[in-house]
Amino acid sequence: MRFLILVFTFLLTQFVNAQKKTIDQRVDSVLRLMTLDEKVGQMNQYNGPWAATGPLTNNDNLLTQIKEGKVGSMLNVTGVARTRELQDLAMQTRLRIPLLFGQDIIHGYRTTFPIPLAEAASWDLEAIERSARIAAIESSAAGVHWTFAPMVDIARDPRWGRVMEGAGEDPYLGSLIAKARVKGFQGRGLGSTDAVMACAKHFAAYGAAVGGRDYNSVDMSLRQLHEIYLPPFKAALDAGAATFMNSFNDLNGIPATANKYLQRDILKGEWKFKGFVVSDWGSVGEMINHGYAKDNKDASMLATTAGSDMDMESRSYIQNLAQLVKEGKVKLSFVDDAVRRILRKKFEMGLFDDPYRFCNEAREKEQWNNQAHLDAEKDMARKSIVLLKNEKQLLPLKKTNGQRKIALIGPLVRSIKEHLGFWSYDWPDDSSRITSLWDEVQKKVGDNKLLYAKGCNINDSSRAGFDEAISIAKEADIIIMSVGEARDMTGEAKSKSNIHLPGVQEELIKAVAATGKPVVVLISAGRPLIFNWTADNVPAILYTWWLGTKGAEAITDVLFGDYNPSGKLPMSFPGTEGQIPIYYNYYNTGRPATNDSDRFYRSAYIDFSIYPKFAFGYGLSYTNFNYRNITLNSTSLKGNQKLTASVVVSNTGEYDGTEVVQLYIRDLVGSVVRPVKDLKGFQKILLKAGESKTVSFTITTEELKFYNNDLKYDWEPGEFEIMIGTNSKDVKSAKLTWNK
Ligand code: NOJ
Repeated sequence: MRFLILVFTFLLTQFVNAQKKTIDQRVDSVLRLMTLDEKVGQMNQYNGPWAATGPLTNNDNLLTQIKEGKVGSMLNVTGVARTRELQDLAMQTRLRIPLLFGQDIIHGYRTTFPIPLAEAASWDLEAIERSARIAAIESSAAGVHWTFAPMVDIARDPRWGRVMEGAGEDPYLGSLIAKARVKGFQGRGLGSTDAVMACAKHFAAYGAAVGGRDYNSVDMSLRQLHEIYLPPFKAALDAGAATFMNSFNDLNGIPATANKYLQRDILKGEWKFKGFVVSDWGSVGEMINHGYAKDNKDASMLATTAGSDMDMESRSYIQNLAQLVKEGKVKLSFVDDAVRRILRKKFEMGLFDDPYRFCNEAREKEQWNNQAHLDAEKDMARKSIVLLKNEKQLLPLKKTNGQRKIALIGPLVRSIKEHLGFWSYDWPDDSSRITSLWDEVQKKVGDNKLLYAKGCNINDSSRAGFDEAISIAKEADIIIMSVGEARDMTGEAKSKSNIHLPGVQEELIKAVAATGKPVVVLISAGRPLIFNWTADNVPAILYTWWLGTKGAEAITDVLFGDYNPSGKLPMSFPGTEGQIPIYYNYYNTGRPATNDSDRFYRSAYIDFSIYPKFAFGYGLSYTNFNYRNITLNSTSLKGNQKLTASVVVSNTGEYDGTEVVQLYIRDLVGSVVRPVKDLKGFQKILLKAGESKTVSFTITTEELKFYNNDLKYDWEPGEFEIMIGTNSKDVKSAKLTWNK
């Protein structure tokens, strides 16, 4: 039997290699026929004529250029009809090389899923993979070949609007989520018609833009780059990500687009990446503004030399690259390598065999309002909600509450599109297919018990609606307030210096709470917001992010106890903008403050707490979980031995509930200082009311490794602290030694 398996594995490997070889041979045979201009054409990507997600450079003769073989890929072109129309033009070129259609499918296509940051709060890798899978199924049915996702940038700064697109602040969680998303997008592999190519972006360190200002510079040590910012990219690559996108920022003085260290040395060198790198929108040309290139020609030379294979919408390559090669300023081998990488993906996608294989009207229709997808979306949305506070078990609310009246107050109670968030698609029938919180609460409790007042707008200073809200509140027995951000307040180019709950919404909450009635606050937003008064004074708060098509249903299920929340924050929530950047895996410093009164010559603020308002990994349940002390299989380990750390977790409340049990490790003394804790594992477990479970983590020296000062990735012997708990702050701990 074993022999047969070996033979089978051998034959399979041969077959796969033969296939690869065929693709490489086919790529070479096309490359041999290509003129230099045609090669440069493949490295050129334009935005389509119907929509734009950045500043257009020029859109004049787009269609003619496609026919002339000057375009290798298009973005912002979706739908079978439109992609077919442009593919028809590509089929009129001399070599009939198909176009690749790329699109930002960030959190769903027709079915809008929660924003990626919200999904990260689920800590549910299977659900996240399923979400990406569905996004791929729906978008590939609409002619899309390639999504510009996942964004795997680590983000420690909620002022940065793009935090919504990533998985938050932690490299370990971020890496697992990156992998899940790539697997979801690429499904059974490139070549299946329901798979889209993934694109790990933005390479690299874009999340560390100074001051949280979008497109801004990044200056960081290489150690930090390798330890915090690169791991999710490596994870995406290991999961098979077909492409990478570089980033707008400069990194230590070199724009990422022209960064040879990142693209040639690390990505294509050390990591052996075989796919291609697309620039970000206009980032080749923008190197002139950076003060790094003197003109577009110079920019093209710098970008191609550094390994940027495709130019998105800056028209620099198409205008200059052929000339640069003729002048000997760019090696032809660089161009050939880039084109080879791009053609290989077109072959792998099956586009050379049938350029229209993603153009299938019947399949496109089938994916429209697909019930299974909507159900999965609702599941994902419920899992993403984070219960921040629940005093006196105000939640869940009872559906059958006799004559009790519920007041729904706030600017988001009746909104529809705000659920969808940034990077989502507007469909003309959205208002009829998506429900509001008002609609859903009505379904749960019936019309006659509901009262409504808007109270104020999301982001202006008018208090004109306060009186009505207060009088409605006085009539009610319980109040649900729905507040937060408009869908365009967090996203690309949406950095903010003030991340408090916008407008006069928190004042409205104060005014309503002053009636003395119990208040539940729902906060819909794309980023961690600041709402200290609410956090300190309102008994129940749910952070509901932007949850997508079924957002209102998911929220209502949680409000009325049809779902027990289990989300955990993937980012620390600051108490003031002055604390930013704030993250759980900080260094202890030489003068650590032990609490907020400990300020005498300490690493502290004299005017504010050093702690986040809500810690990384934090989130409550309607039930309670009790953690007993950690037990270790040994407190003195050697070399390749394995450590088992276990903890008994009990559900001591009255509801069945799901808990994310989190494992953190601290290396107490290192050749470079180590963080006070690092997430190294977690398990999501379901516990029935009254049930207890032993949760065990197996730890090897892999989990102890870090980058030392010579950028060597290894572990060092010594003393370690193991911490297990319900969030990054509340942990049980145990110590051990581990020697070589
Ligand atoms: C710029 C964004 O930075 C990038 O993430 C996106 O994929 C492109 N625009 C295309 O829309």
